Amino acid sequence: MDRSMFTSTSTNVQFPPSTSAEAWWRGAIIYECHLPSFRDGNGDGIGDLEGLIASLDYLHDTLGVDAVWTGPFYRSPLLDQGFDVSDYTEVEPTFGTLETFDRLLREAHARGIRIIVDYIPNHTSDQHPWFVESRSARTNPKRDWYVWRDPRDGGPPNNWTSEAGGSVWEWDAGTGQFYLHSHLKEQPDLNWRNPEVREALFDVLRFWLDRGVDGIRIDVAHMLMKDPKFRDNPEAPSGNHNPFDLQHPDFGSQVHLHDRRHPDTHHALAQIRAVIDEYPGTVTIAEIEAMSWEDWAEYYGTDLAGMHLPFPFRLLETHWSADLLRAELHGMYAALPPGAWPIVALGNHDRARLATRLGTAQARVAAVLLLTLAATPCLLYGDELGLTDRPVPVDRQRDYFARATGGVSRDPVRTPMPWNDDVNGGFSAAPEERLWLPAASDAAEISVAAQLSRPDSMLSLYRQLTRTRHESPALRRGEIVFLPDVAADSDAHRVLAYERRAGDDHKVILLNLASEPVPVRLDFAGTLVVSSVGREPGGRIGRELDLAADEAVVIDIEKG
Ligand code: NOJ
Ligand code: CA
Repeated sequence: MDRSMFTSTSTNVQFPPSTSAEAWWRGAIIYECHLPSFRDGNGDGIGDLEGLIASLDYLHDTLGVDAVWTGPFYRSPLLDQGFDVSDYTEVEPTFGTLETFDRLLREAHARGIRIIVDYIPNHTSDQHPWFVESRSARTNPKRDWYVWRDPRDGGPPNNWTSEAGGSVWEWDAGTGQFYLHSHLKEQPDLNWRNPEVREALFDVLRFWLDRGVDGIRIDVAHMLMKDPKFRDNPEAPSGNHNPFDLQHPDFGSQVHLHDRRHPDTHHALAQIRAVIDEYPGTVTIAEIEAMSWEDWAEYYGTDLAGMHLPFPFRLLETHWSADLLRAELHGMYAALPPGAWPIVALGNHDRARLATRLGTAQARVAAVLLLTLAATPCLLYGDELGLTDRPVPVDRQRDYFARATGGVSRDPVRTPMPWNDDVNGGFSAAPEERLWLPAASDAAEISVAAQLSRPDSMLSLYRQLTRTRHESPALRRGEIVFLPDVAADSDAHRVLAYERRAGDDHKVILLNLASEPVPVRLDFAGTLVVSSVGREPGGRIGRELDLAADEAVVIDIEKG
């Protein structure tokens, strides 16, 4: 990871509001649902599309989100939570049927919720008929649909290491060649240099767009193209391990220079975007690993003909300090191409939970940050409840990344959503031992129902924030200006401050990232709209304010 941006800066930076045509996703709040852990609609212990349909009123009316990113639901052996697809155009029976999916779309659209589905073009399951054909014979017409290479010196073709641990190369004794898998060996990479593969994957896209989905989240978009010469990656003797990542340590033993992010990737993504553009109003969100903000910005494409929303991981991987966050945000907005708009997330199904990383008090501060930045917020299911990582016994683990090669399990981040005080927290009526992952023993106390009855709960804070964002043009789409000098010098590194403006609407956001109070001075007076520590909204805020420990506030500034 490039750490050169991790420097403090005290300049004010101004980012004009978008000038291009308005798009729904610029003002939207997106919710990442992890389907097997969200809600079980048929009592088999696994979350499904029926359960998601049953949760739409919660998502829209209670929580106030505008779009749901579903998580994969395609036919799959489920070794990687459905990111191992064996049929792109069928629904995995565990999750429902095409009819259930169509109903989800109808029910969501009737409530004004948009549906974003996963698009997983980099790899399939080894059970996909394309791969079964490809590995059947060197002469099979689909041989070149995957990446096959001869051995080098009797071993793997190069030194590339997989995200799931070990080599990316798996020997196929039947045909005497290695195939490439950037993740599990059961997830062979497709060969995006083959035009037939591209066309087949564009057809997949059209299949779901024709059904009416509102957008796609592209899995590992930065990986589609690899070095055509398959050169070795440079070793990283002192380790290249990202402490925020749950990837296997093998992966961090080298610099991943040649196995991903080849410049040709941008052409492939522009072609995907061209298909998306056949369906006006749809959005492309591209998952890309942490990289410099300049590299991230390239994913918007020449003349913004690439991804609408390249999904950066840098903010998820930044130490929680005002200076570092300010520097990252400066870097992001400075690199943002004219007319472009960012997406941000602070939680994700591949990373430790927000409340585990920061503790509950600062997770509340993070909620204020997420929902007040000049960016589309993407919220991981359960973060609105302050869920923490929960230990999952080895015999209950689902994550094959850990099971295959002894890596760190991502299961603790993906435990069932607690809804109420019913059995298993209302997630499923199945016996506990049949649940996808174990339900929390305190599910009832931390559940949606319990938190709705408490004005000081994390859920109540999120509800207040989504409502405030929806009602405020400044927060939804306004410009952002960082305020460097609100705290005395000795406290400056504790407070992140910015303002958002659109027309007459003017908000100031102050985040105390420390667990001690900090006095701040403002150039304006206003009215308190939200406080993360429960200070009563509506109170007048003068030019001096004592921010409590772990307090984040949104202040409405008076005109003139
Ligand atoms: C990224 C997904 O977020 C992760 O969960 C998955 O394991 C890999 N891509 C492989 O599809
Ligand atoms: Ca189920």
